[in-house]
Amino acid sequence: MFTQDQLKQQVAQAALDYVLPQLQPDSILGVGTGSTVDLFIDLLAAHRAAFHAAVSSSERSTRRLQAAGIAVLDLNDVKSMALYVDGADEIDHQLNMIKGGGGALTREKIVASVADRFVCIVDESKLVEQLGGFDLPIEIIPLAREAVIREIRQLGGGPQLRDGFITDNGNQILDVAGLYYENDPAAFEAMLNNIPGIVCCGLFAISGAHVALVAGQNGVSRLELQDD
Ligand code: A5P
Repeated sequence: MFTQDQLKQQVAQAALDYVLPQLQPDSILGVGTGSTVDLFIDLLAAHRAAFHAAVSSSERSTRRLQAAGIAVLDLNDVKSMALYVDGADEIDHQLNMIKGGGGALTREKIVASVADRFVCIVDESKLVEQLGGFDLPIEIIPLAREAVIREIRQLGGGPQLRDGFITDNGNQILDVAGLYYENDPAAFEAMLNNIPGIVCCGLFAISGAHVALVAGQNGVSRLELQDD
């Protein structure tokens, strides 16, 4: 039996194998955040000459990329990027995701939005039939905390402030249990986006992953949605 850490290592290697043939010397690579991505960054270090630079989704990943000798560009200086590689807290078979366990969801969603393709890298414990087992992280403006909490309770959710945690953007996170959105996660994401005070929610359904690499006991499998 492989441990979860071993599976993360295997999917990090699979991500490198997937990404490397697509990189050119002028390529910009979008890099997410989390323990799985940390392993991917460590492997990427040996191939830093294969691409131009990275755009990072968090201060944590920026530090790790720079320590690996990989140049990190400001997103404002980048017009396009072919690939964005990131983990997830949950992913379903339609490649909708819950993200934000590490609190970097807002920058992750922004950087991913600039990339042509989102490559999600997970171990098999993250692949679910229906999203919702993982409490939904929501980044909020601190001033709006109680107002947002009231709105979320109206929706049937149980919000919990992530105590002592401040995002890279200076905001707070609510982790919300009990929300029901399995029928139409994209509509639910849009509805949350419209609540004043919510900066970003951890549902990635309006725009999900394009490909998922999933490490399991029998190897790494690839899930891919057909292009429209
Ligand atoms: C960071 O905010 C998250 O979105 C991560 O991508 C997610 O929590 C997965 O992290 P791990 O790879 O550590 O499980």
